[in-house]
Amino acid sequence: FQSPAAKAEPAPASARLDLTHRPRRNRKSEWARRLVRENVLTADDLIWPMFIVEGQNTRVPVASMPGVERLSVEEIVREAERAAALDIPCIALFPYTEKSLRDAEGNEALNPENLVCRACRAVKKAVPHIGILTDVALDPYTSHGHDGLMDDEVILNDETVAVLVRQALNQAEAGCDIVAPSDMMDGRVGAIRAALDAAGKGDVQIMAYAAKYASAFYGPFRDAVGSNALLKGDKRTYQMDPANGDEALREVALDLDEGADMVMVKPGMPYLDIVRRVKETFAVPTFAYQVSGEYAMIMAAANNGWLDGEKAMTESLLAFKRAGADGVLTYFAPRVAEKLKHR
Ligand code: PBG
Repeated sequence: FQSPAAKAEPAPASARLDLTHRPRRNRKSEWARRLVRENVLTADDLIWPMFIVEGQNTRVPVASMPGVERLSVEEIVREAERAAALDIPCIALFPYTEKSLRDAEGNEALNPENLVCRACRAVKKAVPHIGILTDVALDPYTSHGHDGLMDDEVILNDETVAVLVRQALNQAEAGCDIVAPSDMMDGRVGAIRAALDAAGKGDVQIMAYAAKYASAFYGPFRDAVGSNALLKGDKRTYQMDPANGDEALREVALDLDEGADMVMVKPGMPYLDIVRRVKETFAVPTFAYQVSGEYAMIMAAANNGWLDGEKAMTESLLAFKRAGADGVLTYFAPRVAEKLKHR
């Protein structure tokens, strides 16, 4: 009998393939892999989206987003403190607006005492060194769940832009650092930039949701902000057709031309080709939004034991870096930052 040891012996020189290139050499051990690693994910790459709800010491789970809760204002402050301790540079705030406060024009968006404004002021006071991004769009405030004003079935562009400008000013007044128009109306970035400058808010940055697609992956978010049940029809007359790539470059070019400081591609994982094209074409700060449905998919599979959630989370976020993103909005932000801290 042959002993196992003899079997493991290297093949004679003649049997060894005559290869000049053996890429596996660079993967032979952990230190070698670290040495040639091209991209790394750090806490600096993260923006943490949070949902705000009315109440005191209130945390309300979002059923379609396991692990994500709507938080009352002091809970938001607590999580902002945690974000700062985890070196997460920026948080994003989204309100859950009760039905009674919604109307066809989304007037609650202009209320200086609305949830977003109150949360901005509270976070700025308690955690002055964390960035706050606020979403500019009317869907959390409208009775029909659309991002703009409507005339019958039609979303009115220019009338909506006038309201978005006032919404952005309201948020800037409350102390937000970045306004992020997510509405996809034409011309809104330029109008918001001009209004901020005229109001002495020249330091407020604009992160444009420049290439935002009409996506099925926003479903859980619409649950979280309470607009899913209200939404009539779809958003395809303003959000982009998932079939288009060149059009994304045109949208980004326009938003940059109008004064956007940073641009975003959304959703994230199914649109990494767009992230890559945007970064290569424009070489500007480029962000991706790993949206609610992407988070929900990974969590659902993980909670069923179908994949390793922690590994899938890390791999998905690293993929954004490889595609060229400078940062990612992700509901995994606290979890992955925790992991990076204790690596
Ligand atoms: C609001 C807005 C949406 C998201 C961010 N801002 C929903 C939508 O456009 O319907 C989605 C974010 C997510 O799914 O995580 N316009």
